[in-house]
This record gives sequence, structure tokens and C-alpha cells, in this order.
Amino acid sequence: MAVTQPAASPVETRAATVRNPYSVLPNWLYPTFVVVALSLFALYAAWVVLFFKDGRFGPYLSPFNSPELRVTVAGFAIPTGIWIFWIPLVFRFTCYYYRKAIFRGYLWHPRSCAVTEPPRGKYEGETGFFVFNNLHRFAFYVIVVQTGFLWYDAVTAFWYQGGFHLGLGSLLMLLNVICISAYVFGCHAFRHLAGGARDCLSCSRARYRLWRGITVLNVRHELWAWVSMFTVWGVDLYIRLGIVGVIPHAGWA
Ligand code: FES
Repeated sequence: MAVTQPAASPVETRAATVRNPYSVLPNWLYPTFVVVALSLFALYAAWVVLFFKDGRFGPYLSPFNSPELRVTVAGFAIPTGIWIFWIPLVFRFTCYYYRKAIFRGYLWHPRSCAVTEPPRGKYEGETGFFVFNNLHRFAFYVIVVQTGFLWYDAVTAFWYQGGFHLGLGSLLMLLNVICISAYVFGCHAFRHLAGGARDCLSCSRARYRLWRGITVLNVRHELWAWVSMFTVWGVDLYIRLGIVGVIPHAGWA
């Protein structure tokens, strides 16, 4: 006896033909970029944190080692990055944008808009394993303090051996802290702190203006997330190359 297959439902038919409205690029491209870039950065960060005692090269201090906390246990100097790495790690890992990137890149859950995904277990949102994402607002408070230290490092890098100093390292550090500030202060949690939970936002001019300023950064949050990651990477690489003697210390003033 012939068995007839049930006809595809209208929803299934539509799902097969629908296109991502935001991009004409192949839908595997973005998740592949996320996996490659984040994985390489994670490996680089682990190498720096575990194998370098500190990150100072002349007046320059790596963002992986700021603030400089020097602790010695039984005569063994603990790498300064050990005390600090968890702050940006938790902040970025729980960032609303990076959550999307990680879900798409590593979990393919789903890998793009308008792409079907295999059946999975019950969706629990952020009440199950991912409940730790709620740490984000607390990580924001801590990263604000660390950003203050990065500003201090960037400004003091223009001062070396008793005089004004201008070198590629000082400019890179300044660029880096500007990009990090644009990322940190465009945070969704910060925007909510400024403008959320109020019936009349414009009744407080200060809060309204703050919220609008944060929104300017927030609409490009994804861009700042990536740019700031690459500037951290770049400035640290420059300083590491100086530490190991590949490039000499030099300044224009
Ligand atoms: Fe991305 Fe807060 S949402 S840093």
C-alpha cells in the first residue's frame, strides 16, 4: 500500500525560502568570524595572563596588567594578570551583544536570523545554566573602576623619566582606553540604570541627557565591542614585543 507523506505546513514552506533581512552575506560567515576571532583572542589572553609576570615596557602598561598588583607567595611572584583577567572576562562574556555572538557562533542557536535549527531541549532563557548572565550589571560596576585605572595609565604614559613623552605606545594606549570607554559606557545595563524604571524620563533633565548620551554609544555597541577587543589586543601585542626585545623603546618627544 502506498504511503503518502503529509504535505509541508505553510510555516515550514515559508521557513525554507525566507531570507535574512539584515544581510546578503552567507549565514555561516558571521558565526565563523565570531568563533575564529574570539577563540584566537581567548588563547592569546590565556598565554599573556599565565606566562608573563607583568606587562610594563617603559612608561607603557598593558591593559591585561592594570592595575599593577604585585603579590609574592612563598617567594614566587604571581603574574599580575591573574588578579585582573576575570573582570573583562565576566563583563564581556555576559554582555548582551556577546551573548548573541556566542549563541550564534559557538552554539548555532540559531546561527543567523531566518535560519531553522535542529530541535533542542526546553528553552529556559536565563533561568537555567545561563543564569550567571545576570552578573552583568555587577560586572559593569567593577569594569568602570578598571576603566578608571586604564585612563590613569594612558595619561601617565605621556610622562617618562621626568619629562613629557610621546611615543607610539602612548598613542595606542590612549586610543585603546577611548574605545574601551565607548564600549563600557554604551552598555545596555548602564543605559537602563540611567533611564530605566521611571514613568517620566524627561522629568529629570540630567538623567535624560545621560540616557541620550549613552544611547549614542549604545546603537553602535556591537562595533565598540569588537573595536575595543582589537585595540586591547593590539596595544598589548605592541607592549609584549617591547618587553621581549623585538622592538626598541622610542619616542618622538
Ligand atoms: Fe554589552 Fe553591557 S551590554 S557591555
